[in-house]
Amino acid sequence: MASKLTAFSWLLLTWAAYASGPAYALDPPHDVSRSIDCASCHISHHAAGGSITRISGNSNLCASCHSAGGVAATSALANSDQAIPGVSGTSHRWDSGASGWVKKNPANTSTGTVRSTGVFTGRYRKTYTITITADGVGNAGGAQFAWTTSTPQRNTYLDAFPALAYNGSSGTQDWSATAWQESGEADGVAAGVVRVVTNAACAAGNCLRVGGVIINGISVARAADLHAGTAAMLTFSYRRQLAACPNTNTDGVALQVSADAVSWTTLATYVLNACDAAQVEQAFDVTAYIAATTAIRFLGTGTSAATDFIYVDDVQIENLVAGGGAAGVSAAGTVALDEGISVTFGNGTSSPYFKLGSQWTVYANPDINQPTSFALAARLANEKVTCSTCHNEHSQLAEPFDLAAPAYPLTGNGGEGRHNQRLDNDINQICVDCHSARNVTAAQSSHPVGIVIPATGSYKNP
Ligand code: HEC
Ligand code: HEC
Ligand code: HEC
Ligand code: HEC
Repeated sequence: MASKLTAFSWLLLTWAAYASGPAYALDPPHDVSRSIDCASCHISHHAAGGSITRISGNSNLCASCHSAGGVAATSALANSDQAIPGVSGTSHRWDSGASGWVKKNPANTSTGTVRSTGVFTGRYRKTYTITITADGVGNAGGAQFAWTTSTPQRNTYLDAFPALAYNGSSGTQDWSATAWQESGEADGVAAGVVRVVTNAACAAGNCLRVGGVIINGISVARAADLHAGTAAMLTFSYRRQLAACPNTNTDGVALQVSADAVSWTTLATYVLNACDAAQVEQAFDVTAYIAATTAIRFLGTGTSAATDFIYVDDVQIENLVAGGGAAGVSAAGTVALDEGISVTFGNGTSSPYFKLGSQWTVYANPDINQPTSFALAARLANEKVTCSTCHNEHSQLAEPFDLAAPAYPLTGNGGEGRHNQRLDNDINQICVDCHSARNVTAAQSSHPVGIVIPATGSYKNP
């Protein structure tokens, strides 16, 4: 209450100052020319809006006139005009910020609110789906939610053979629990047909070696849990080093894949009849074998010379899974999701505030920061851009984009058609505040902006 009173008395004081100083009087069209005065937007008592405005919510106030049937119907703007880039809409959003914006699913009957906060640090546009998985009254009321994201996450199981061991794990996923398993021999990593060795024929340091005299039926296999994946790729490199090369031998090492480690499919066979000058890169799509028990193996066939070997290095299974997510999370206060985005749960009006099955979608966009210039930063609504962030509904003083727009009069009021800019915007000053990441003048990582286009014969009006 105290802060409201203070704001209100301050408003009355400035109101008086505005009324007496011509520089502060309203500029058209928000003025007498359209029968608009302070009271069209402000109300002295029991005001709904934070700036003592008649209507709660900055864009709702603007829309009370800027809508079909309103006094500014010629420049109507509906919420559905806001762009989802590449999908729909014709206007810059007025409900988004560095943490994106939140859309309530139409079937959602919860009265509780979900708001996004933070600064999105991801590199690609992304959506988060929030689903209530347990009813709850509110912040302390035990509601739970699950969240998933649109962007696939790249998980890797990688063995670059950092040590003379079968359990190397150098990828994003811990692979150490499912080590390479020998079959047909059981003499460990340092003996027999299958070994991990240090050799110049490896890509670097150590690698897996298969070979020797009788390799027939001897194999080494490794399993990986890919069940959450939507696509999987196996990559590795190999190099054959033989006693005599080329030769006419028919023995070899087969690369096989399996979904259950029982029935195997051969993807390639490396016949030990030629030498390779360097490690040879290999890549196989193994999406068809995605399972909790996916396995790969190298299986020997035939008999080779005692010093015929194939050296295999950097064995990696890349698995694309749906982006980050979690289930059974308490919907209390502000909860961090990932890549800089958090969601804040707000109480509703009727219990339970959060109902089972209710959904919200958070749309996050990269390369956007919160404005730093005070005039813009002071006019965010819940950390989001709104109409008054970019527009000064009181004044036409600031320079518009449109250089053909009328000049601001030297004395008195005027300037209709300058589109009520919050700050000078003749050289994109407003835009490059939040979009500073795009404000590059050389073609480095983005299309350059703010460059001078020469007025020659080859210049064409956009
Ligand atoms: C078209 C609607 C509209 C009209 C007309 C209007 N205001 Fe405002 N006013 C707003 C909105 C919206 C805000 C909050 C956003 C902002 O800060 O500009 C606001 C904010 C203010 C503030 C807070 C200070 C500031 O600029 O942040 C003052 C003071 C104010 N108005 C005074 C007036 C006075 C005095 C008049 C009449 C001479 C007037 N307003 C007419 C919409 C209007
Ligand atoms: C991201 C900044 C931004 C936001 C947010 C924004 N505008 Fe604008 N608006 C502009 C700019 C820039 C122009 C054009 C200025 C120029 O050409 O010089 C403009 C032009 C306009 C115009 C005149 C042209 C037309 O299309 O009729 C109206 C009216 C308008 N805005 C109203 C609104 C309202 C109402 C909202 C909120 C619902 C809003 N704007 C939100 C930046 C913004
Ligand atoms: C009381 C009614 C009313 C309200 C509320 C209102 N406007 Fe307007 N606005 C008008 C009228 C009338 C025009 C004249 C153009 C038209 O008829 O479309 C206009 C025009 C504009 C223009 C174009 C000005 C130009 O120079 O051409 C902008 C920008 C604008 N309004 C922004 C806003 C913003 C932002 C808000 C909310 C903060 C807002 N308006 C609230 C009535 C209103
Ligand atoms: C106060 C901060 C702010 C200002 C000022 C601002 N923008 Fe934005 N802009 C945003 C946000 C936030 C988004 C993301 C909208 C969303 O979530 O879809 C955005 C998105 C965009 C997009 C879509 C980008 C995409 O991902 O495809 C364009 C284009 C754009 N703005 C242009 C402008 C222009 C032109 C101006 C100057 C008139 C401007 N912006 C001023 C915050 C701002």
